[in-house]
Amino acid sequence: MDDLRARLLRLELALAQRRLADLPGGTCEAVLHEAFREIGASGRWWTHDDTLEMLGGAEASDVPIERFEIEELAPSVVLATYDTGGSRPARRVSVWVLDGDQWRMRFHQGTLLTPVSFRECATDDLSTTALAQILDLCRACWPDGDFTTDDLEHALGGRHFLAEADGRVVGHTAVVPRMLELEGRPLRAGYVEAVATLPSFRRRGIASRLMADANRHIETTYELGALSTGEHRFYERLGWRRWTGETWVREPDGPLVRTEDEDDGVMVLATAALPPLTLAERLTCGWRPGDAW
Ligand SMILES: CC(C)(COP(=O)(O)OP(=O)(O)OC[C@H]1O[C@@H](n2cnc3c(N)ncnc32)[C@H](O)[C@@H]1OP(=O)(O)O)[C@@H](O)C(=O)NCCC(=O)NCCS
Repeated sequence: MDDLRARLLRLELALAQRRLADLPGGTCEAVLHEAFREIGASGRWWTHDDTLEMLGGAEASDVPIERFEIEELAPSVVLATYDTGGSRPARRVSVWVLDGDQWRMRFHQGTLLTPVSFRECATDDLSTTALAQILDLCRACWPDGDFTTDDLEHALGGRHFLAEADGRVVGHTAVVPRMLELEGRPLRAGYVEAVATLPSFRRRGIASRLMADANRHIETTYELGALSTGEHRFYERLGWRRWTGETWVREPDGPLVRTEDEDDGVMVLATAALPPLTLAERLTCGWRPGDAW
């Protein structure tokens, strides 16, 4: 399946980038099925001949393909899904059929995606509008009042990583400074809060991109990254590891209180500033209103 994925990705890339010389025989005729049809982003139906003509006159580009996945629908019939980036990002689907020893595209559809831009800034530099949009975004992502004013407070005072489309915030991650204690030793931690992508912008790699920027910020600014989540797999892909030791909170007047309900959610990002972590020690955070972790 990996070989087939690589083979179809090469064909899709040559078509998407209009690099027809990279196709078998140096033209798209061999890879476009005679009964090929496409529904374009505008809704227009394209036939085999329309497409041959359009591709023949198109200029080569470097448009990237992301999240390319294939699924065998039946013997010799494969569904490919992926996104194309560049100035007109689109979500695409193709159906490929095996004809003799040549895979040929039988159907294609592309849906335009709203372009997204990325930036980062300190809380102090957030405009009132951006702050209100972050709050709206988090409320949409944690409905039924699950995103509280304490949660918003927890996300302020550090650095924000923002994805914006059509003048509004559609993705957000915050890293705030917190003192944690590892077996009693104080550590400067970058604590991740309010990681959210608007439902209609999900599965485009937005949160992964924001977290990659947040990771870099933590690695260059703090001794440790930490967060609490129920979405472990999402963070594991980005280098975060589950804490397996006990978690505690230091109450305002000093005593330590065990937070066993939080043990499962806590994850950390190691940095070069610390020796290798065993992950099984006692990790303590300072008290704050709302959720401690
Ligand atoms: C969790 C959350 C932030 C992810 O946002 P996102 O921008 O969709 O994230 P990404 O696109 O970077 O990737 C998310 C997942 O979708 C997958 N994915 C992304 N694009 C895809 C595509 N085109 N096809 C299939 N899978 C895709 C990623 O591989 C990843 O998979 P995983 O579930 O195996 O980890 C978002 O779902 C959200 O806001 N949830 C509610 C709030 C929340 O739970 N926040 C985080 C917990 S603290």
